Formats: sequence, C-alpha cells, structure tokens
Amino acid sequence: MTIDPQRTPQEYEILSGGGAESAEMSRRGLSRRQVLRRAVTITLGLVGAEATFGALTMLYPNLAGKFGAPIQLKSKDSYPAAVQNEFLLDQRGMFYESAAKTYLMRLKDPDFQQSGQNLQNLLDAENWVKDDDGTYWAALYQVCVHLGCKVPFRDDCHSFKCPCHGSHYNVDGEYLDGPAPRSLDRFAMSFSNGNVVVDTGQLNNHVAHPVDATRILPNPTVVCAA
Ligand code: FES
Repeated sequence: MTIDPQRTPQEYEILSGGGAESAEMSRRGLSRRQVLRRAVTITLGLVGAEATFGALTMLYPNLAGKFGAPIQLKSKDSYPAAVQNEFLLDQRGMFYESAAKTYLMRLKDPDFQQSGQNLQNLLDAENWVKDDDGTYWAALYQVCVHLGCKVPFRDDCHSFKCPCHGSHYNVDGEYLDGPAPRSLDRFAMSFSNGNVVVDTGQLNNHVAHPVDATRILPNPTVVCAA
C-alpha cells in the first residue's frame, strides 16, 4: 500500500478506511524500525530509572522514627531518677527502651569523682545531659563493646555485667573490668516538649577506659558475682 506522507492520519482514515498509524509514521518520516528502537529505548530508560530508584531507596531507607534515626520516647516524668546505688531496672534510675536499643540512665545527686572544667569536659565527651531539675541523663547502647552480646543491667550489681565474657560497666556505661576495650557506647539525647528523644543515628563509640583522672562516678559498692 502506498502511503501519502502529506495526509494527516485523520484524512488517511477517511480516504483509505484505516492505516492511521502507518500514515502517522509516514507523515513523521519514521520507519517501523525507528519506532521499535525508540520504544525499546524508552522501555529500557524506564526500567533503569526504576532500578536506580530502588537502589537509592535501599541505600537511603526512610528511617524516620526507627532505629538509626532520632526516636521519641516517653515523657521525662516516666523515668524517675535515683541515686547511684538504688537503681532498679524500669522502676527508677535505669530504663530499657527496646525501640532505641537503649538503657536510659537518670541519676540524681551524683557523687562526681571530678570537678570543674575537667568534669564538664568529661560529661560532654560522654554524652551526659543535665536536666533543669539537676538530674543527669545518658542513653547507653545495649551492645557490649567486647564482642557484641546484649548487656543486661543487674539490679544486684548496681551495674551492667555481660553474660558472655564478663565485661563489667558502671551505671553510666564506664568500663569497670573484663575484656571490653572501652566503655559502653552511647547515643546523643535531648528533650522535646517534655519527652525524651534518643538519636540512634548518633553513636559515640570512643569512650576510653577511665583512669583516676577521668572516671566520672565511683565504682559500685557491691561485688558483682558472675
Ligand atoms: S561480648 Fe560482652 S564480654 Fe564479650
């Protein structure tokens, strides 16, 4: 069939009773092979864009409100403070928050082992947060820094004791004894409208073993059995 390239598809439909597609191709000067090539190119482009979007989504997942991002916990009032040797897990002084994989410490009347600027520098370096009422907070990551076991807080020890190889940490996560290479890691934390916010995307994992000049709190007053 001969196709008149000057006719519009509509004209061609009327005159020839069909073949509008061929007429349009002819009018635009396109061969069937060119049309196919364009269709394949567009299809591949769409597949490539979708694959790129999927890869970016995997690389940068939406973590809002999930572990790896700031997580809003309960109101400050939900976490009563306690003095160091009277912590009772999930009742006073120390609270476990599974969504943030965090032990939240709220300490009152601390018996600081340092003073002045040295103390302030240490508190800052170890992510302590002082509240308006004079209590102190810290958000400790639950993972033992030796080989990664979950560390329980032991009410009977007034401290954390790892069940795997015995690493032992004070209520503020400072190293006491055992094979751990440093103190417990801790997250940045803050308050928002009276609630506690733990930023699980900001992990401080370089708190060294304390020495006399850098230890913030005294050792627990009880011996911790295995
Ligand atoms: S994993 Fe905790 S002491 Fe080894």
